[in-house]
Amino acid sequence: MQKTLSLYDTTIGKKAIVAVTGLVLYGFVIVHMLGNLQVFLGPEKFNAYAATLKGTPPLLWGARVVLLVSVILHVATSLTLVTETASARPVGYRARRYRTTTPAALTMRYGGPAIALYLLFHLAHFTFPGVAMGAYAHSATDVYGNFVNGFKVPWVAAIYVAAQIFLGLHLYHGSWSLLQTLGLSHPRYEAVKRMLPQALGLGVAGGNILMPLAVLSGVIR
Ligand code: HEM
Repeated sequence: MQKTLSLYDTTIGKKAIVAVTGLVLYGFVIVHMLGNLQVFLGPEKFNAYAATLKGTPPLLWGARVVLLVSVILHVATSLTLVTETASARPVGYRARRYRTTTPAALTMRYGGPAIALYLLFHLAHFTFPGVAMGAYAHSATDVYGNFVNGFKVPWVAAIYVAAQIFLGLHLYHGSWSLLQTLGLSHPRYEAVKRMLPQALGLGVAGGNILMPLAVLSGVIR
C-alpha cells in the first residue's frame, strides 16, 4: 500500500521544522536578553518587570508551552537529521578533513547538548526549584537579588559566560544555514549572508555576557 509522504518524512520537511522552531527560540532569546538588560536600570524596575511577567498567567503559560514544544521539536528533529546523515554513509571516512567547515559548524554538534545542559542548570538556578548558588536565600519575588547574588559567585558567572559563547556560535551557524537553505546564493546577498549571522551571534552572546561580568566587576550591585 502506498504511504503518503508527510512533512516529517522528508529531509526538507525536517529542515523546515528545525528552522521554524529555531526562529521561535531565537525570538525568545533576543526578547529575554532585552528584558534582562533592564537589570542595569536598578532593582525596582527589574523586579517590576519580573512581576509583570509572572502576573500575566495566560502570557506566561502560553509562552512556556510554545517554548517547550519548540525545544522538543528542535532537538528531536535535529537529532533525527544527524542520525540520518550518518546512516546515509554506513562506511565512515578513513580520514576526516574539515576543509569547508568552520569552527562554528563543528561546535553545532557539541554546542546543542551544551546549551541543553546549560538550560537545565539555568532553570534550576533561577526558576524551579530556585537553587541559591552562594550564601544567600533564593527569593520568589526579589529576582534582582537572586541575579546579583548568583553572579557574585565566580564559577556560576563562568558557566554563564561559557554557555553564551556556545549559544553565540550556535545562533551564528544556525542563521547562516537558514539563509543558505532559503537559497540566498546571489552575490548581491553575500554581505548580508556573512554579516547578519555574525551580528546576531555576537549581539546575543555579548549582551548576555555583559550581565554576569557587570555583577562580578561591581557595576551592578
Ligand atoms: C546571562 C544570560 C541570562 C540571564 C542573566 C538570564 C536570566 C534569567 C532570570 C533572572 C530568569 C528568572 C526570571 C524570574 O524568576 O522571573 C530566567 C528565566 C529563564 N531563562 Fe534566562 N537568562 C539568561 C540566558 C538565557 C538563555 C540563553 C536562555 C535560553 C537558551 C534562557 C532561558 C530561560 C527560560 C526558559 C527561563 C524560564 C522562564 C519561565 O519562567 O518560564 N535564559 N532567566
